[in-house]
Amino acid sequence: MKIALGADHGGYELKEKIKKYLSQKEDIKIVDMGTYSTESVDYPKYGHMVAKSVVEKEVDFGILICGTGIGISIAANKVSGIRAALCTNTTMAKLTRQHNDANILALGARIVGDVLALDIVDEFLATSFEGGRHTRRVETIEACNLF
Ligand code: RB5
Repeated sequence: MKIALGADHGGYELKEKIKKYLSQKEDIKIVDMGTYSTESVDYPKYGHMVAKSVVEKEVDFGILICGTGIGISIAANKVSGIRAALCTNTTMAKLTRQHNDANILALGARIVGDVLALDIVDEFLATSFEGGRHTRRVETIEACNLF
């Protein structure tokens, strides 16, 4: 499984911890799209870069981190085909994979602790889309052209 990581300065340290953690797993390959330090940067750039790599199928999933997880998930969700889910607990991570077929996990480094963040990552990556009635709903999200 190939995973793109992206973060702003607020998410940099947690990104590094997630990278180290996932790098120990044999079946996971990481693509780190930055940022590469705690120097202040603008989160939309990283949200868009990771989102592009997901929709272009260069990776299977993305993980995005900023201070709250909010700005970077909003940015990623502007990219057609992206369903970025901001999760603050493992239940949300499980349900967003099962029901929304989320393809990006967003985390807030100033919101969740490191241990919980790694548990959320594990749950997100271990859970499959349930399909069935959820397929129609996800297709309806993608078909939206009202505005
Ligand atoms: C950066 O200070 C902060 O605004 C950003 O990391 C994020 O929380 C935005 O939603």
